[in-house]
Amino acid sequence: TDAPLIDPFARPISYLRVSVTDRCDFRCVYCMSENMTFLPKKELLTLEELDRMCSTFVRLGVEKLRITGGEPLVRRGIMSFFNSMTRHLESGALRELTLTTNASQLDRFADDLYSAGVRRVNVSMDTLDEAKFADITRWGRLPQVLRGIDAAQRAGLRVKINAVALKGFNEDELLSMTEWCAERDMDLTWIEVMPMGDIGNEDRLDQYWPLKDLRATLAEHYTLTDLAERTGGPARYVRIEETGQKIGFITPLTHNFCESCNRVRLTCTGELYMCLGQEDMADLRAPLRAHPDTDAPLEEAIRAAIARKPKGHDFDYSRQTVDGRVSRHMSHTGG
Ligand code: GTP
Ligand code: 5AD
Ligand code: SF4
Repeated sequence: TDAPLIDPFARPISYLRVSVTDRCDFRCVYCMSENMTFLPKKELLTLEELDRMCSTFVRLGVEKLRITGGEPLVRRGIMSFFNSMTRHLESGALRELTLTTNASQLDRFADDLYSAGVRRVNVSMDTLDEAKFADITRWGRLPQVLRGIDAAQRAGLRVKINAVALKGFNEDELLSMTEWCAERDMDLTWIEVMPMGDIGNEDRLDQYWPLKDLRATLAEHYTLTDLAERTGGPARYVRIEETGQKIGFITPLTHNFCESCNRVRLTCTGELYMCLGQEDMADLRAPLRAHPDTDAPLEEAIRAAIARKPKGHDFDYSRQTVDGRVSRHMSHTGG
């Protein structure tokens, strides 16, 4: 019964992203609106239920678990969940336990995360300018984030910076962010802004900075070598020969990577989204809660969901219109 999860397009599903909370202590303007309504606590999967969900996926062949949010580290008790996943690392079933975080709480959690078996964290940080940082996150404070990153490195965690490429916002920081990351031995990944959620007053097209342009600018200053290696995520990497660091490009708009998709997403309420860019989901909380003593119905629901994983997203700005948008916010499924 433990046959691996394979979707209709013959893609093995080995990567589960789990959003453990819809809440965040920031309000990044491209991610959330200023007045977000968050879920009542009873809607959330408990930490024990999260364990059961994730353990079932691991039994079905998931090898990489990425904890996201909202901001995962604002979920109360989250370390006990990380600690409960350590056993899957120790058994060899899980190859990687990691998280994507805004780093605001990392100074408190870095050592504990390392002890739980986390070796790598992705930190979302779009600018190194304090005033711009406060603008884009609405409530975020850059010095706190930098303290978090320092703590992570001191704890032995490898840090990758994720930056959303935003025209007129961080275009001018392409080289300075590259240098900053190189000095600290960090990789840097750029992400094209995706049309997700009602964020109020939006104009994704105005914000859109195609990564092929970003890459071309980078190539004017550095020698770039394309790398074949992947980290199991959607990014494609180049190495900057002058610094040795890796620069990643996540390009849902200019280069679709869906054909090698290996992942699905679980929300904090137990909905399984088969694609970041589609609305279809399956409720896994119902079979989980209805059957406290057996995981068989949950497993059946997971297999049924994987069987309808779509081919890919429909995000498209190419006609100078924002097509293929999805209504939920990025924080709902954790990116
Ligand atoms: P690595 O393990 O470092 O490869 O991480 P990752 O790129 O899988 O995870 P991360 O959380 O750093 O992802 C960065 C961002 O890439 C996400 O927040 C999303 O914005 C985007 N992304 C990740 N997976 C997908 C996907 O399947 N489709 C699309 N369109 N975007 C994705
Ligand atoms: N488009 C692209 N990336 C986004 N993120 C949040 N909203 C968007 C969007 N609309 C990014 C965050 C973080 C990750 C979880 O997703 O900056 O790096
Ligand atoms: Fe919070 Fe990340 Fe969304 Fe910013 S992008 S509001 S840090 S969840």
